[in-house]
Amino acid sequence: MSINAIEVKNLSKSYRKVQAVDNISFNVKAGSSFGLLGLNGAGKTTTLKMLVSLIQPDSGTATVSGHDIRKKPMEVRRSIGYVSENPSFYTRMTAMETLRYLCKLLDVPDSKREQRIENNLQLVGLTDKKDLYIGGYSRGMRHRLSLAQALLSEPEILFLDEPTLGLDPLGAKNMRDLITRLKSEKEVTIVMSSHVLPEVEAICSEVGIFDHGKLIAQDSVEHLRNTASDTINLEAVLIGPTEQLVKALLELSFVNDVKMDGNRLIINARKEGEIRPKILDAIYQLNPQILSYGIQESSLEDILLRILKR
Ligand SMILES: Nc1ncnc2c1ncn2[C@@H]1O[C@H](COP(=O)(O)OP(=O)(O)O)[C@@H](O)[C@H]1O
Ligand SMILES: [Mg+2]
Repeated sequence: MSINAIEVKNLSKSYRKVQAVDNISFNVKAGSSFGLLGLNGAGKTTTLKMLVSLIQPDSGTATVSGHDIRKKPMEVRRSIGYVSENPSFYTRMTAMETLRYLCKLLDVPDSKREQRIENNLQLVGLTDKKDLYIGGYSRGMRHRLSLAQALLSEPEILFLDEPTLGLDPLGAKNMRDLITRLKSEKEVTIVMSSHVLPEVEAICSEVGIFDHGKLIAQDSVEHLRNTASDTINLEAVLIGPTEQLVKALLELSFVNDVKMDGNRLIINARKEGEIRPKILDAIYQLNPQILSYGIQESSLEDILLRILKR
């Protein structure tokens, strides 16, 4: 396999009037973990479905484990595991029956089947629930079963669509821990989508930020963190006119962004030397009445919102 587990080139997909995915390109290195981050409707699920060859792109293409998703959909499916947004199973079958049935569909050799099922059940913590009907499973248990199912073919790449959506905090934590373990123990490449930043931050090394079908930014989590720690937010409550002040502040070389929210002024700035007195000076020159002010380190969330400009 080449150094890239996935190569996506100019992929697009629309549903009637909605451009769900709009000309996106990115690569995922083998063995790494890539997070598709974006609000609801950003195009994450549509992208994943194209990559696992469940739907066809309108234009562009991608290779997954070296297989073209348009020309070799069966090869793609054999080399990956996929956990969908809403895992669904036959509720009148047990987990054991379900996994045995799926092994048949996947052509897992009989000699390997039982051991592999046991291992996967153990991994996701469902060994003692394996003979219960799935109809009685909680959402979290279904998600874990879905993960066990996705691992039956011993995939090189695992696709996870919002793996903690709808889980309670403990269930979500268990799922995150499980994915992190998988990453370190099995050397699978992980591609997951999420609308929550902390989750992507906990699991992924690279992140692509999706907005209205477009991939608007791509970066390593480490670089985003460094960017966050290099900036501050200064908040001040003011009295008086502020229009000119916003302009003046934006002219300072280290100021990234200035927002007014009522009489609250929020300045995002890079930590370049002693910037606080310079900012305060600029404020005093135009508007001497500061009722209060405070400084906060900016977070990854701030960076993300700035990228999304919301
Ligand atoms: N089967 C479909 N039919 C029509 N529109 C769809 C369909 N699936 C997704 N969409 C639309 O495409 C856009 C992207 O959706 P989706 O890929 O599900 O985003 P995300 O997973 O980021 O929430 C949304 O506007 C959504 O309403
Ligand atoms: Mg989705």
